[in-house]
Amino acid sequence: MIINFITILLLIRPSLPLGSKTRHFEWEVGYMFRSPDCVENLVMGINGQFPGPTIRAEAGDTLHVKLTNKLHTEGVVIHWHGIRQLGTPWADGTASVSQCVINPGDTFVYRFKVDKAGTYFYHGHYGMQRTAGLYGSLIVDVAEGEKEPFDYDGEFSLLLSDWWHRSVHEQEVGLSSVPFRWIGEPQSLLINGRGQYTCSLASSSAVADGNATTDRGGRCGFLGHEECAPQILHVLPNRTYRLRLASAASLSSLNFAVSSHKLVVVEADGNYVQPFAVDDLDIYSGESYSVLLATDQNPAANYFISAGVRGRRPNTTQALTILNYKPNPPFKPPTLPPPVTPRWDDFDRSRRFSLKIRALVGRSRKPPRKSNRQILLLNTQNTVDGLLRWSINNISLALPATPYLGSIKYRLKHAFDGAPPPETFPENYNLARPPANPNSTVGSRVYRLQLNSTVDVVLQNANAMQENVSEIHPWHLHGHDFWVLGYGKGRFAAAEAERHFNLEDPPLRNTAVVYPYGWTAVRFAADNPGVWVFHCHVEAHLHMGMGVVFAEGMDRVRGIPRAAIACGLTAKMKTAAKEEEDGN
Ligand code: C2O
Ligand code: CU
Repeated sequence: MIINFITILLLIRPSLPLGSKTRHFEWEVGYMFRSPDCVENLVMGINGQFPGPTIRAEAGDTLHVKLTNKLHTEGVVIHWHGIRQLGTPWADGTASVSQCVINPGDTFVYRFKVDKAGTYFYHGHYGMQRTAGLYGSLIVDVAEGEKEPFDYDGEFSLLLSDWWHRSVHEQEVGLSSVPFRWIGEPQSLLINGRGQYTCSLASSSAVADGNATTDRGGRCGFLGHEECAPQILHVLPNRTYRLRLASAASLSSLNFAVSSHKLVVVEADGNYVQPFAVDDLDIYSGESYSVLLATDQNPAANYFISAGVRGRRPNTTQALTILNYKPNPPFKPPTLPPPVTPRWDDFDRSRRFSLKIRALVGRSRKPPRKSNRQILLLNTQNTVDGLLRWSINNISLALPATPYLGSIKYRLKHAFDGAPPPETFPENYNLARPPANPNSTVGSRVYRLQLNSTVDVVLQNANAMQENVSEIHPWHLHGHDFWVLGYGKGRFAAAEAERHFNLEDPPLRNTAVVYPYGWTAVRFAADNPGVWVFHCHVEAHLHMGMGVVFAEGMDRVRGIPRAAIACGLTAKMKTAAKEEEDGN
């Protein structure tokens, strides 16, 4: 009888792996008082937790997250970073792109499938709510009966971020003020939402008792400050641990290391990579990695784990926690000093690390040999009506009131700028100099991609407004993974560059960094009907317009929940939408 029932189930849903489930969550987003770095502040959290609850699921599961906005005066959405949302573009959680913000007091249900094992995270995607603390880990294990291509005895998730004492509202207003006010470097770096402002765990007294009080003289401690005490990693000697790293940082590029231990990189952004060993690794905002760590060092000692700033002139104390070899006391001071973060501007070192990342052959899709379209995206710093902005091919992204998903689906006129955005930039643009004519326009155009076509995007970096300044930008694509085909210095020259594209074992990722004055080429299959934003994952840069929008296969999108798209509509648009719907 039971066997018959299972057989029938298998016949009905042949694609459903055995054991896949729907996992239900009920979340409330709200502000609360917290001391993430031992200094009390307002933090945006979920169900009273910061970071938000960790989601753990198996590949093939469906997540059902009922999200209620308890923020009182602002809307909210949550984006599931790295999850492709195959068939559910309205669950992507991107304000003005995939949905309307959830208003105070309202509830929205995110229902989507986590189709692929890996290390992911989720975060706010409206205004700068990620910077306010709205993020958490999302871990997807392999489906029952499947195996990872590596073994380990235990694991830890470390969600890295940076933290400011000034409120995000103040930061947002500063970014859109004349004169412009930059957010500055973060006050602290956090590991799983915990850090220590202006003090270092490395001051031996702090480590020794683990409970002195903070500030005054740079000593840190956590008595009465449980919230900022570092999360210690307790391990046994002679074992292998998987560390799942993800960066939800707003601004900082980070370097992660464990003193005197090698790290073997095995996963990047939810895709397996050819394992390689390093002493430290760079992780940019929006990226995730799994590394294997063997506890093969002197078991009588504890060791420092560190995350420090790279890519920008650092002005933030390195984040530290402890690798505790049991049965040593957890706060026994490590005998070795913390790892030294590599020089912030040694970009050749960063590039060498990026180039080591190769797909695990046999466990990864290969890219098509050719692409159908190549889009060159030049990023520049500009001024628009006196405001400092970032532009892509001279257009600075400003999101419309009605989400693209609805306005494109229902062919609403005037909901956004319908003209096609430029495919490239002027031949004679001088990348090495500040923009000669720094004016650009604000816009909301969309790149329409042919469904199932292969698209190459080349991200071209340039000099910012200031002489001799070009910044790092980690670009993240929603709804897809892309192959990272290559990195180069200076201007992208198609014929020459394409000869060096890695078409053999390029890593599949959802985030790729563009180095100062350089370019990065990615390729992806436009195979996921929906509207997807592609943007710099530095929160302030996106806020200043650094992104583009792709749309593909919109005639295939069916079943968009009304609540996701019914906002910002004029009466005329409503009638048009109704007619379109009835006609369908
Ligand atoms: Cu994690 Cu659009 O971002
Ligand atoms: Cu950027």
